[in-house]
Amino acid sequence: QKVAVGRAHSKLILIGEHSVVYGQPAIAFPFKQIEVKVTVKNIEGNAIQIESPFYQGPLEQIPEKMEGIGDCIIQTLKVLEQRSSGLHIQIASSIPIGRGLGSSAAIAIALVRGLFVFFNQELSDSQLMALVERAEKFAHGTPSGIDMMTASSANPIWFQKQHVVEHVKIGAPFHFVVADSGRVGDTYAAVKSIRDKYEIKPEKIEESITLLGKLALEVRQGLAAGDSQQVGDKLNQAQQHLALLGVSDPGLDGLVDTARTAGAIAAKLTGGGRGGCILALVENEQLGKKVADALIQAGAAQTWQYTIAKC
Ligand code: MEV
Repeated sequence: QKVAVGRAHSKLILIGEHSVVYGQPAIAFPFKQIEVKVTVKNIEGNAIQIESPFYQGPLEQIPEKMEGIGDCIIQTLKVLEQRSSGLHIQIASSIPIGRGLGSSAAIAIALVRGLFVFFNQELSDSQLMALVERAEKFAHGTPSGIDMMTASSANPIWFQKQHVVEHVKIGAPFHFVVADSGRVGDTYAAVKSIRDKYEIKPEKIEESITLLGKLALEVRQGLAAGDSQQVGDKLNQAQQHLALLGVSDPGLDGLVDTARTAGAIAAKLTGGGRGGCILALVENEQLGKKVADALIQAGAAQTWQYTIAKC
């Protein structure tokens, strides 16, 4: 039996979620502790069987909420010029779904990679991005592309729309705690809520969005200088603007306060918001442990310590 595996890691947006949709720059990190693994095998018969935490059964009966995944498999097989028959596709993921950690992009990337390996074909970056972008449109409507770029990158990225990606210099290691609120956020709805407000009061929204872009630039400088106070100060300001845009919520605000009170330099939501995760910048791993404990006490479903190395 032939078996092939495709993998993709999670992502963390440090700064620039939402404003990136309007063309402002953002900084994101690969979050390699959690990932999606797709295993492709050949099986008897002529059906494609899906095995995933959310659905098990034939591809044709895939539920509507997994439409993007179904479409991604069909499109990838088309590009591979393969008949869609006799395959077992298992999707396993340690990335919690709908928490702003890029699970949908990671699933699509791992799927495309797994299928290309299975059919022994070379996968170019542009092929991968085209297939994943299509899948992401099902999940998010008008994705900026930052999720798929980060989930397929080994290094931190500076990202602007039209897939402009630059290297981000990290002058010293930075430590973070990521906390999952345990609540599913709806990125699609959060992006739409800002769009709706923008249509009514463009100046107000534009102001926050432009400021978030400026903060991203200052965070980039702080990262290069290894200056955690500067980075932290800007991250805290970003949280204020995300709250003004209406994508934070009382639960996330509570976790942000908890992290700061427990000694974090800064804390903000990460990803689409309205549920999902926060990240907290801490001076060192010991403090990180203290902050993580406090976040669990305050009701976080789980936490991760994350260090971005000098690069
Ligand atoms: C989602 O991870 C990030 C958002 O900025 C949406 C996007 O960029 O597509 C909220």
